[in-house]
Amino acid sequence: MLDLLLKNATLPDGRVGMSIAVRGEKIVEVSAGLDAPAHKVVDAQGLLVSPPFVDAHFHMDATLSYGLPRVNQSGTLLEGIALWGELKPLLTQEALMERALTYCDWAVANGLLAIRSHVDVCDPRLLAVEALLEVKRMVAPYLDVQLVAFPQDGVLRGPRGPMQHMDNLKRALSMGVDVVGGIPHFERTDEEGSRSIRLLCELAAEQGKPVDMHCDESDDPLSRHVETLAFETRRLGLQGRVTGSHLTSMHSMDNYYVSKLLPLMAEAQLQVVANPLINITLQGRHDTYPKRRGMTRVPELLAAGINVAFGHDCVMDPWYSLGSGDMLEVAHMGLHVAQMTSQTAMRQCFEAVTVNPARVLGLPGYGLESGCSADFVLLQARDPVEAIRLRATRLKVFRRGKLLAESPAAISQLHLSGRPTQTSLMLPEKKRFYVRQHTDEFLTSP
Ligand code: FE2
Repeated sequence: MLDLLLKNATLPDGRVGMSIAVRGEKIVEVSAGLDAPAHKVVDAQGLLVSPPFVDAHFHMDATLSYGLPRVNQSGTLLEGIALWGELKPLLTQEALMERALTYCDWAVANGLLAIRSHVDVCDPRLLAVEALLEVKRMVAPYLDVQLVAFPQDGVLRGPRGPMQHMDNLKRALSMGVDVVGGIPHFERTDEEGSRSIRLLCELAAEQGKPVDMHCDESDDPLSRHVETLAFETRRLGLQGRVTGSHLTSMHSMDNYYVSKLLPLMAEAQLQVVANPLINITLQGRHDTYPKRRGMTRVPELLAAGINVAFGHDCVMDPWYSLGSGDMLEVAHMGLHVAQMTSQTAMRQCFEAVTVNPARVLGLPGYGLESGCSADFVLLQARDPVEAIRLRATRLKVFRRGKLLAESPAAISQLHLSGRPTQTSLMLPEKKRFYVRQHTDEFLTSP
């Protein structure tokens, strides 16, 4: 007897009429048309069932603090950092945890079941570290949180000497923070930026931790810390364990230089996180016109065989006033900014908020295969492209075989003479044929 049978599902790879059989917390079979006795049966009615959304880059210590103590007037990264500096002395553990837990509720409602969050370690009290470690423990039954020790003010820029923030960062790791962070472009000089990368990668190698650095988050075409990050990754044998986040300077770099850089990044097996909503908002602020988009070169990185994920980065904080934990909104923006409009590229944008960030986090048991954890989301869409187009409603969210959240289908009642009485904004089945035919050319599985 199965515990759960989800049937008549469409999978992200295009397979239709699929059943997902669950026993306990695991998927035990995925096959077409399977019907077997189960304690609970869910008919997906041909709609898309996806593995959960994953956010590879977030700041849970700052989330939902918008307006505290004031809003960012210039809209720049630098004013955001200054504003966060004004807020830090006012933070309390209770308020931090309350905001983070509220955000985790939003995440679950949106089918977002794993988040890598940076946590600022520059405040010697490590109040945010303590708060987010507690939140991580509290949400563990329903949401995976991975924490990155992030020296927001520069790891070598401590007011009491260059090792002050490094010491805080090491303390955070010893308290249970999972990943070594950094911000080389915000150190005092380029040389100090390179030195910070070397020291932080050496620390990660020593402690067997992954690395995830904010890197080259500027419009400066000569900000090239990602090159150093790739070099140190290889030198220390950290291939596959290092992530470069943002990399927005790559948008403005010379094309010849990028043609040399991409193979170096691939050789080091660097993983990349672009943050479309935030990059398009914060970058290009010093331009008049034309204004640069500021996001890193996503299609070119993918073509070089590099794993690229899209992160949310911020929701209602000193850097960004909007957002709701909806990774389909992130994919929607990424698709537009990178002009990833072919069928293949739009599907890659869906992967950039599901399987690709799962690889960045190294999530065990992720996926819709026998033996994987029974974690999945039923979407009000028939394929990944429609899911992005509609930022589709998450009808049901399952984790370890248990229902965590559900939302009513988005349907508008129409009061028009001679027209249907309702619409869901989904393409009617009979008009879908041409899309399917066109799409099938790109599917890996029939
Ligand atoms: Fe960030």
